[in-house]
Amino acid sequence: MKRPIYLDHHATTPLDPRVLDAMLPYLREDFGNPASSTHLYGWRAEAALTDARERLAAAIGAGDPAEIVFTSGTTESDNLALLGVVRASRQRRRHLVTSVVEHPAVLDACRALEGEGVEVSRLPVDAEGRLDPSAVEAAIGPHTRLVSVGAANGEVGTVQPLDAIAAVCRERGVPFHSDGAQWVGKLPVSVREVGIDLLAFCAHKIYGPKGIGALYVRGGRPRIPLQPILHGGGHQAGRRSGTLPVAQCVGFALALELCVEEKDVEARRQCELRDRLLASLEDALPGVWRNGAREGGLPGNLNVSFDGVAADALLPALPELALSTGSACASANAEPSHVLIALGLAEERVRGALRIGLGRGTGVEDVDFAAQRLIEEVRRARGASSRAKLGGSR
Ligand SMILES: Cc1ncc(COP(=O)(O)O)c(C=O)c1O
Repeated sequence: MKRPIYLDHHATTPLDPRVLDAMLPYLREDFGNPASSTHLYGWRAEAALTDARERLAAAIGAGDPAEIVFTSGTTESDNLALLGVVRASRQRRRHLVTSVVEHPAVLDACRALEGEGVEVSRLPVDAEGRLDPSAVEAAIGPHTRLVSVGAANGEVGTVQPLDAIAAVCRERGVPFHSDGAQWVGKLPVSVREVGIDLLAFCAHKIYGPKGIGALYVRGGRPRIPLQPILHGGGHQAGRRSGTLPVAQCVGFALALELCVEEKDVEARRQCELRDRLLASLEDALPGVWRNGAREGGLPGNLNVSFDGVAADALLPALPELALSTGSACASANAEPSHVLIALGLAEERVRGALRIGLGRGTGVEDVDFAAQRLIEEVRRARGASSRAKLGGSR
C-alpha cells in the first residue's frame, strides 16, 4: 500500500538522515558507557555527551551545559520538573499553578501531586487558548511552589505570552516551568531572555530520535530545588540516574541545531502552506472553522472543523492522509479534546476537529492534494447526512 502523506508532525517527525548519520558511530564502534572512566570507550562516550550537552544548551540560550538534564522525553522532563520541584519543598501547604490546556504529561503529574495533598490551580484560557498573565499573578499565593505553562499548544498551535508570565513569576519569586515540546526548534527560544527556569523538550518532535529529551534547569541563585524521581547510580549530578543513550543524545543535539538553523525559512514556508490549505478549504466549502490561534501560532499547525461532519467519520474515508483528531497525540483514548473544550467550542465543533501538522517534508503538492481530498470527503459526508435527514422526514 502506498504510504499516506504525513500531516501529523505534532505527534512526531521522521528522523533526519543527517541525524542518523551522526548517531551511527555511537551505536557501532563508540558504544561505550559514558560513566566508564577507566578506558577509551567510556572517555569517547563521555566526550560525545559533553559536546551534545554544550550544543543543546547553546541552542536554547542556556548559560551552562550543566543546566541540561537528559531524560527519556518530554513526559519524563515534565514529571521531573513538577514532581521534583514541588516534592523538594518541605512545607506543609504546597500549591502549583497551571492551565487547563496543558498536555497530560503536566495535567496528570498535577493529579498525582494532588494525591499527595498539593493544591493545584488550573487557569482558564481565552477562545484562542491563550492564558492571561494577570490571572497567573492573581493565582500565585504564599504557598505556590511552581508555575507550569506550556509554551506552544500541540493541538491548536497557540503560543503563550511567555515573557509576561515569566516576569510575573520572577517578581513573585516562584520558579517557572514550561513544556516546550512543540515550541523548541520551531520558534526562537532563549530561556535566559524569556526567564524560564525549567524547560522540557525532546528530540522526536524536531526530526531527532525517539526516547531522548531534556529538562533545562536554571543554575545559579536563587537555586531551583529539584528532588529526583529516578534513583540509582547518581548520574547527571544525582538529578536523573540511568546510563545515557549517547547516540540519542548526539542525534538530539544535531537535530535541534538543524532546526534552529532552518527555522526562519521553514516557519515562513509552513505558514504559507498552511494559509494556502486553509484558503482552499474555505473557498470550496461553507462552514469551515479554524480552531485556536489565528495569529502568531505554530507555523505548521492547522486545526479545523467542518460544520455537520464528525472527524471520526471523516478520517476512515481519507486513508491517503495521515492526520489526527484534536485529541490523538495527547492520549490513547478517544475522549473529546480537553483543549478544544477549554476554548469554549460547541460540542459539534469539538467532535469535528481535525489537526493538520505540516512539517519539513510537506510540499505544495501535498497540501493541494490534502485540500482536494478533504473537500471531496466533507462534501460526500454532508451529502450523505442531508439525504439521511430527507429520508427520515418523509
Ligand atoms: C506539548 C507536549 N508535551 C509533551 C508531550 C509528550 O512528549 P514525549 O513524547 O516526548 O514524552 C507532547 C507530545 O505529543 C506534547 O505535544
